[in-house]
Amino acid sequence: MAGSLSGMVGDYLFEQRIRADRSQMEALAVRIAPSLYRSDAAALQDQLSSAGGELGGRVLLLDRYGKVQLDSYGEMAGVRLQYPEVVNILVRGQSGDYGVHALDSGERLDTSRLLFMRRPDTGWVGYCTAGVVHASDVIGVLLLVSPVQEMMQNLYQLQDQMVLIFVLIAAAALLSALIFSRVITNPIAGLMRGIQRMAKGDFSARVKIKASGEMKQLALAFNSMSEKLETLDQSRNQFVSNASHELKTPLATMKIMIESLIYQPDMDKELRTEFLSDINSEIDRLSNIVSDLLTLVQMDSHNVKLTRENLSIATLVKENAHRLQPIADQKSQQIQLTLSDPCDIYADKSKLNQVIYNLMENAVKYTQSGGVIRVALSRQGRDAHLVVSDNGPGIPKENLPHIFDRFYRVDKARSREKGGTGLGLSIVHQLVLLHGGSIRVESEEGKGASFIVDLPLHQG
Ligand SMILES: Nc1ncnc2c1ncn2[C@@H]1O[C@H](COP(=O)(O)OP(=O)(O)O)[C@@H](O)[C@H]1O
Ligand SMILES: [Mg+2]
Repeated sequence: MAGSLSGMVGDYLFEQRIRADRSQMEALAVRIAPSLYRSDAAALQDQLSSAGGELGGRVLLLDRYGKVQLDSYGEMAGVRLQYPEVVNILVRGQSGDYGVHALDSGERLDTSRLLFMRRPDTGWVGYCTAGVVHASDVIGVLLLVSPVQEMMQNLYQLQDQMVLIFVLIAAAALLSALIFSRVITNPIAGLMRGIQRMAKGDFSARVKIKASGEMKQLALAFNSMSEKLETLDQSRNQFVSNASHELKTPLATMKIMIESLIYQPDMDKELRTEFLSDINSEIDRLSNIVSDLLTLVQMDSHNVKLTRENLSIATLVKENAHRLQPIADQKSQQIQLTLSDPCDIYADKSKLNQVIYNLMENAVKYTQSGGVIRVALSRQGRDAHLVVSDNGPGIPKENLPHIFDRFYRVDKARSREKGGTGLGLSIVHQLVLLHGGSIRVESEEGKGASFIVDLPLHQG
């Protein structure tokens, strides 16, 4: 590219020189034509010498066969010259020509191949010819031989500069391509690596956010997605390990008791019955855990269907109070109901029942003997507002955020001995959400707990 560019510039420079030389040569040719025709040697010699001085070169006059007739330097008379510039006029009938030749080899310069004809040591000389015409007959050729060394030098310099500029431009292009690829390709490659790691199950993959604009948004979205997947993955693992642990405990207890029964055949009847009833209650626990787990798994996979019907929440509360009354009586607890509205709702009866039962059962279960359990139901705007509160031990502040988590129990040992699975509240939470409602807890340690449920009475 640099070569062809400098060739173009070279052509332009030559063009100027050629035009100047040629017009002068043509003028001279016209001037000397009559003298040549007349073969007036003295006049020709005069005209040539003066023209040579004017043109700053050596002027030669050739006859129609290319033989030198006159030389302004007076040296080459009689020599036959076969330069292409001469031949072009004599044979091809051109009116004039111009060429630059190497002094040593005589090779004609081709400006488009300037880069490859670079010979700084070679002298260069320009040949400018013009036909001398008389009565439309070429009767001779004028040849101007002029040094073009200086012009060639300029051309070489120009060429050097162009090659340098070209190299610089190429380097700049390369550099910008590199930067471009760094800015565009690297973040994409980083994201790809992240996705591949994630595809292999490594959810800790994050991409570095070095990009800007859309790439940055993409990286941020990817990171937040992988973060969520990681949490999900962790909580699933946690859930599975909790579930296994919960199932293992009653199994281990049962194994010990059964082994005692096997290896102590002469155990007294009373103890034996006690062991068997313990085993029986462990089996109940196991089946409770399993059915709670099933409920949760079903809700997780989003394939729970609500079988809705018209019902009154107040009625459900009364029924559950009735169910729990015997246990409350045993603990000399009071259950106080304040039902200011029937709160008719179109909802899934067994699921709402589960919500109310779990909350009330917790209150009865965790409140000390002689405590009071209050259940208040009212209408607040379009919602049913249910509050189940007690004056039991309450829930410590640090446990409150986890109270609806699966298997979460404030006092593990106490809850287990009361037959709890730690799944009740998380099921309640899910069921309330399924009905489009919300649940929250308010509690202060030692001052009891209140569970507050809001359920929309009209769907949509
Ligand atoms: N009314 C309450 N008063 C004090 N603590 C409670 C009350 N209700 C629930 N809790 C605490 O919340 C935990 C989780 O309750 P839940 O999910 O129903 O599990 P479970 O009753 O099977 O232990 C209980 O273990 C208990 O520590
Ligand atoms: Mg419970």
